[in-house]
Amino acid sequence: MKCKSCREPAMVDLPSHNAAFCGPCFLRYFSGQVRAAVKAQAMFGPGERILAALSGGKDSLALANELLEQDCRVSGLFVDLAIPGSSDRARAAVEDFCRARGLDLVVVDLAAEGLAIPEVKRRVRRPVCSVCGKIKRHFFNRAAARGGFEVLATGHNLDDEAARLLANTLRWDGAYLSDQGPLLPAEDGFVRKAKPLYRLTEYETACYCFLKGIEVHDAPCPYSRGATFTSYKRLLDDLEHNSPGSKFAFYDGFLNRGRPAFEAQQAGLGQGLSPCPECGSPTSGDICGVCRIRRLLRGED
Ligand code: FES
Ligand code: ZN
Repeated sequence: MKCKSCREPAMVDLPSHNAAFCGPCFLRYFSGQVRAAVKAQAMFGPGERILAALSGGKDSLALANELLEQDCRVSGLFVDLAIPGSSDRARAAVEDFCRARGLDLVVVDLAAEGLAIPEVKRRVRRPVCSVCGKIKRHFFNRAAARGGFEVLATGHNLDDEAARLLANTLRWDGAYLSDQGPLLPAEDGFVRKAKPLYRLTEYETACYCFLKGIEVHDAPCPYSRGATFTSYKRLLDDLEHNSPGSKFAFYDGFLNRGRPAFEAQQAGLGQGLSPCPECGSPTSGDICGVCRIRRLLRGED
């Protein structure tokens, strides 16, 4: 197998692109995909400040590394969930990564916020992962807004996005289908959100980290029984195997043709948002979901 660009021996095989690349050409291809994503979705412009949510895993560290190499004004954000034996390792991977690159890092400590995830798990009756996701998104937005960042970037890749789309489609969930995508514009107290890796797969971000020598914390969360959307990802991988390129075609076709239809259907159905009286975050209820969990943990609900 030869590299499609330079004819040297290839290292990374990408059937979905009908291509294989050597290491340096793969890294150029990867940068090109990130640039194409940023441009196609008008995610951010030169000089805008980006806060990248870092979990310590391969996707978010690949994202931050690539944005830095593209001379973007990027800082890191780590939300410490206070899960014993897991959060401290993830935090160390993120801190080492940022220190080595001179990257500013904002840390939110959920224990100090009265929201340590093990405590949340003990008190909340819903599956902890969905509550944890809600809490993380809350602090992503709050940290970006308070820090004056124009955009919050996350490391969601094509596998994440296609699996989420499949899940939403199987339920014909109009509300989710109308705003799933790699860019959510700023609105009502929410900062702009961007997913610059949406054109790249998990395999590609793993290759990127390997070739760049990035040390990642890839142990799964001890509270999640298997990663999110695992069965959907498996289905899509099967499809991709038999018909290379179908994963991207599914997602990209949705963005171009599916989502506009759901947006039109959902127009005007959104609930009005107002600031939460306790923390100022936008909410459609009388207090926001995270402050409600805080009250529950304080035994006030
Ligand atoms: Fe949040 Fe596992 S419960 S990452
Ligand atoms: Zn609140």
